[in-house]
Amino acid sequence: MADTHRTIGSLSVHPLALGGNVFGWTADEKQSFAVLDAYAEAGGNFLDTADVYSAWVPGNQGGESETVIGDWMAARGNRDAVVVATKVGHGVPEHRGLKPAVIKADVEASLRRLRTDRIDLYYTHVDDESVPVEDIITTLDALVKEGKVREIAASNITAERLRASLAFSEASGLAKYVAIQPHYNLVSRDTYEGDLAAAAAEHGLAAVPYFALASGFLTGKYRPGATVDSARASGAGKHLESERGVRVLAALDEVAAARGAEVATVALAWLAAQPTVATPLASARTVDQLPALLAVADLKLTDTELTKLTAASA
Ligand SMILES: NC(=O)c1ccc[n+]([C@@H]2O[C@H](COP(=O)([O-])OP(=O)(O)OC[C@H]3O[C@@H](n4cnc5c(N)ncnc54)[C@H](OP(=O)(O)O)[C@@H]3O)[C@@H](O)[C@H]2O)c1
Repeated sequence: MADTHRTIGSLSVHPLALGGNVFGWTADEKQSFAVLDAYAEAGGNFLDTADVYSAWVPGNQGGESETVIGDWMAARGNRDAVVVATKVGHGVPEHRGLKPAVIKADVEASLRRLRTDRIDLYYTHVDDESVPVEDIITTLDALVKEGKVREIAASNITAERLRASLAFSEASGLAKYVAIQPHYNLVSRDTYEGDLAAAAAEHGLAAVPYFALASGFLTGKYRPGATVDSARASGAGKHLESERGVRVLAALDEVAAARGAEVATVALAWLAAQPTVATPLASARTVDQLPALLAVADLKLTDTELTKLTAASA
């Protein structure tokens, strides 16, 4: 029986957030539409993108992923059925940082590309410590009041700045972050576990961990001697060089075999079971890759399985 939707502030989302950095990068428009259709047909409603995706591709400007999603929602006429998350502040130099003028200009560009009048969840992509949290929150609050943004969230922020942001929101009665998007998976736990997760827990924030599959490593397709044809191979494959990566893979193999599940599903189910995590965030480049990710909604690991995986990743 499939897991039910999760709550992020006023939003109700599917237990798998679908990553959008592939759209306009490793997936062209046709392939992206196919992945989006398959995700929606399976009940998925939570899309993650950013104004900078995918500016690293030669010839791209950034905004290609938002454009794909906007065109797809327009073509399918399903805007109201989709929860769209996008991010600001990590773009090409003139769109970098979180100065109020940058946020105010860039939200308009995101809305245009997404072909919508509101963004459901708007993240600061990477914190900008040159801007006081008061200025960032006040600017985001104005967007909420104007109806351009429904909920606000933060990605790549320290516990200290997160706490300061939340304290200011509470004291001033302005919009408050409802979610955090940290780098978090079985081979990368240090950024989130500890003070940042504690701050999120204290304030009831929902975590939406990115790189949930460690760029593909946690699917189990990177093995000693195997050649993987992927734009991510050099980064994802490096985890095989660490003892931790090898231990995690062995534990994933064991749990996956015992449960008759894909390695990727087990990796996502471990994340989904961690405190504060609302939905793991992972991408699929092709329709074939999607079922293993969607299956996280149906796989609940036992305490013994969780402990085995946690110990292997220590
Ligand atoms: N806030 C931030 O700073 C930040 C940073 C990074 C990402 N993100 C967000 O997080 C999302 C997820 O991160 P990510 O997409 O970079 O990495 P990821 O989800 O950890 O890895 C996804 C990649 O793994 C491979 N894969 C997925 N399912 C597979 C399967 N069943 N079998 C084999 N291979 C499979 C695919 O790549 P190949 O087929 O190409 O190998 C896919 O693109 C992004 O799309 C983006 O929305 C946010």
